[in-house]
Amino acid sequence: MMAESSKIKLSVSIGPLTLQNPVTVASGTFGYGQEYVPYCNVSRLGAVVVKGINRRPRVGHNQPRLVETASGLLNCIGLQNVGVDEFIREKLPFFREMNTACIVNVNGSSLDEYIEVSEILDSSPGVDALEINISCPNVKEGGITFGVDPVMTERVTREIRNHTHLPLIVKLSPNVTDITTIAKAAACGGADALSLINTLLGMAIDPIARKPRLSNVTGGLSGPAIKPVALRCVWQVHQAVQIPLIGMGGICNGLDAVEFLIAGASAVSVGTASFTDPAASEKVLDELIDFCVQNKISDISTLIGSLTIS
Ligand SMILES: Cc1cc2nc3c(=O)[nH]c(=O)nc-3n(C[C@H](O)[C@H](O)[C@H](O)COP(=O)(O)O)c2cc1C
Repeated sequence: MMAESSKIKLSVSIGPLTLQNPVTVASGTFGYGQEYVPYCNVSRLGAVVVKGINRRPRVGHNQPRLVETASGLLNCIGLQNVGVDEFIREKLPFFREMNTACIVNVNGSSLDEYIEVSEILDSSPGVDALEINISCPNVKEGGITFGVDPVMTERVTREIRNHTHLPLIVKLSPNVTDITTIAKAAACGGADALSLINTLLGMAIDPIARKPRLSNVTGGLSGPAIKPVALRCVWQVHQAVQIPLIGMGGICNGLDAVEFLIAGASAVSVGTASFTDPAASEKVLDELIDFCVQNKISDISTLIGSLTIS
């Protein structure tokens, strides 16, 4: 198996960015990368997408902010992060010794904040691409306000495009009526690629206390429960735009990843699965390679968008 697998071409292109393989980890589920070193070989991953970064540190929402439901994880972390200065000083150097690409997820509560954070990261060696989070359902200001409106999506994408040379990935929300409209707007604004999907807005109630289980009342649903929604979004967006997609939502094993590639994703992200098994992303990669060997696929990119509808 080993000799055969070494012949498979695994690298994929995400616009101007080449990844050594299509398996990445989703923002907010893999810390700043370094935390997972004891559990998996981070260097083997195509990319690590780090936790969303703001201009200044954020403490996020009060506890409780993670609740397990019968069908998925609900979170209202509220974008807790160290802020861009500490990120560059303390977290980024780790990636300079890694083969894996570093994609920085960027948050903003205003257009100016998105631009400022992107500009600072643009001049920071070790950052390989920006993923713009216009889809966080858990904060009142910024984020989702941009991601549900095509005009704002195009504007924020274009403004950031004008302030960075880095590959620009825009992360889309499923909490919209027609995701293809938002995808087209981001592409028009100059995005090199899109990632999708962010979490689905949900809530959980404690019936005895008659209170919400999350401090923020509502939160984002993730995990296997959302995979069919995510696959549908990737498939729809793949038909609507020409730029590459990074697909995510409930990916737990190699076959899940294969489904996303067939639906039209050029790469995938493993998210919530890393909480039940911190080595989940490496297993997804191994199983993806096994799939290629078993099915005599010599170039993984031939899977991308290969869905046939009779
Ligand atoms: C605890 C938690 C924190 C997250 N934080 C971020 C974030 O900071 N920025 C972002 O764009 N997405 C964030 N997400 C969304 C994930 O990156 C991913 O899009 C989503 O969870 C779907 O993938 P999954 O079902 O594999 O987890 C977060 C998700 C979880 C569960």
